[in-house]
Amino acid sequence: MPSRTPPPMVRINIPTVNVNESWTPTPLRKQRLKTRVVRLYLPCLLIISLVLNIYYFTRPTPLSLPSALSSTRAKDRPLHREFDAVDFKQLTDLVLVPGHGVYLGNGSPLNETSWYLTDAQRGEVGAFLAHIGKAIEIVKEHDRSLLLFSGGKTRVEAGAYSEAQGYWAAADRMGWLTRDVYRRVATEEYARDSYENVLFSIARFHEITGNYPDRITVVGFDFKRERFLDLHLRALRYPKIRFNYVGINPPGDPAALVKSERRDAYDLFAKDLYGCAGKLDEKRKSRNPFMASHGYAKSCPEIAGFLDYCPPNPTAVYDGNLPWLS
Ligand SMILES: *[C@@H]1O[C@H](CO)[C@@H](O)[C@H](O)[C@H]1NC(C)=O
Repeated sequence: MPSRTPPPMVRINIPTVNVNESWTPTPLRKQRLKTRVVRLYLPCLLIISLVLNIYYFTRPTPLSLPSALSSTRAKDRPLHREFDAVDFKQLTDLVLVPGHGVYLGNGSPLNETSWYLTDAQRGEVGAFLAHIGKAIEIVKEHDRSLLLFSGGKTRVEAGAYSEAQGYWAAADRMGWLTRDVYRRVATEEYARDSYENVLFSIARFHEITGNYPDRITVVGFDFKRERFLDLHLRALRYPKIRFNYVGINPPGDPAALVKSERRDAYDLFAKDLYGCAGKLDEKRKSRNPFMASHGYAKSCPEIAGFLDYCPPNPTAVYDGNLPWLS
């Protein structure tokens, strides 16, 4: 009889043992999981947190925009300009000032420190302003004329300001853009040398007026006169009789200026009329550090092919149609 009582006990125990067996593995697995978390995921979290902390400590502090904006409010510039309306289609004469240095927009244009200049251009700021002033006088006297300051963003050191923009800003700062001329003074922002000064300004004149100029007046260094008259006009086939050159030299020995002009420019253009081969081409490429390109082929479809004309024989003159010849 006593041997009969254990069996029910065992029978009762079996489920408990079963239950125990089915439950014991869980804590074990949990423990294993915990150690895995500690060993593996925690270091990952630490690394992520470290990275985030480094980012937050080293991130650039953002500009406080409202105060920056309030301090840039212009105080000495007119809020609106007064100027006479112009019927641009009536303009027939181009007055062109080729750019040299870059006026940087601050300080007096009469002070050399307000300009970006190459070493060779030091002492020439007075002549640049004489070119600008003379050209504005001419435009005042001829109400069918348009003045263009021409010259691209040619120097990386000067920043993304074009020579043309600088000349316009200098004229404005001098108080020369009076209401009678204000709308007839504009910029040509892509030229990289004197040939492009003329060609691109003709194109820019057409952009503004719809016309090709009947007359061109260049106001520039006197020692460059022959280069324009003999070489650029020949390349452009622009009639000499419709062209005028007003020369104002910088200080210095005129004979020495002519001599270096011959060697560094005239002789090169004489052998390469369109400035598109060898040394002159290299010079052009070096004078476009901001990789800008003009849209004159689109605004002047009549000369789209001529803009890129670069004959295998570098002294061959273009023999296609040109709108200023008709
Ligand atoms: C030219 O500008 C510099 C820098 O702003 C200044 O120190 C200098 O006095 C100015 N020169 C003249 C003649 O005004």
